[in-house]
Amino acid sequence: MSAPLRIAAFASGRGSNLEAVLENIKAGKLNAKVVVVISNRSKAGVLQVAGQWGIPAFHISQIQFEDKDEFATHLLKVLTEYETQLVVLAGYLKKMPLEIVRAFKNKILNIHPALLPSFGGKGLYGHLVHEAVLEYGCKISGATVHLVDDEYDTGAPIVQRCVPVKEGDTAETLAARVLQVEHQIFSEAIQLFAEGKVEIEGRRVRILSK
Ligand code: GAR
Repeated sequence: MSAPLRIAAFASGRGSNLEAVLENIKAGKLNAKVVVVISNRSKAGVLQVAGQWGIPAFHISQIQFEDKDEFATHLLKVLTEYETQLVVLAGYLKKMPLEIVRAFKNKILNIHPALLPSFGGKGLYGHLVHEAVLEYGCKISGATVHLVDDEYDTGAPIVQRCVPVKEGDTAETLAARVLQVEHQIFSEAIQLFAEGKVEIEGRRVRILSK
């Protein structure tokens, strides 16, 4: 087996998606190593998750820097120091600086709690997504793992999976159903990269069956 894929995770919240990845690594389902965790929020649960798993974790927010360039330079330095091969956004609610998107072209994944391109974009995150899905009257929802480009939620999809919207669903019950699927497909998508099975041609992400 090849060396584990070195992953840097960015997150803003409780970190259940990161935990699912760590559990899958532990269970031998994922040939990866989370080498560093970065959060824009000092009190984010994800920093505690990282601590419990013995992973170096940092609170790095743009407001700690003079300007965007300094922020991006610092992030790039940390990613380089930890010899990052893949960046995963596990509930990161900030836009990735362009310098990072360019330096890690086609090597940044985001998980979104809906079937993109529906219910994505700036301002649509977390529970707001599920409220919008219910408001629209959708019969299905789901989750998307996609490549990160210059905009919010517009990069090419890698893995998508549906869940039903059920009678009487609230944003909470729908979120819980979608989250189960998120915990599966995030690791699946990462493992495709670990196995070198992803070929990218424009917006098409081809999954090789080698
Ligand atoms: C997840 O549902 C993720 O899809 C969502 O934030 C939640 C983080 O939960 N991300 C977005 O909405 C990004 N647009 P977690 O902290 O338990 O992993």
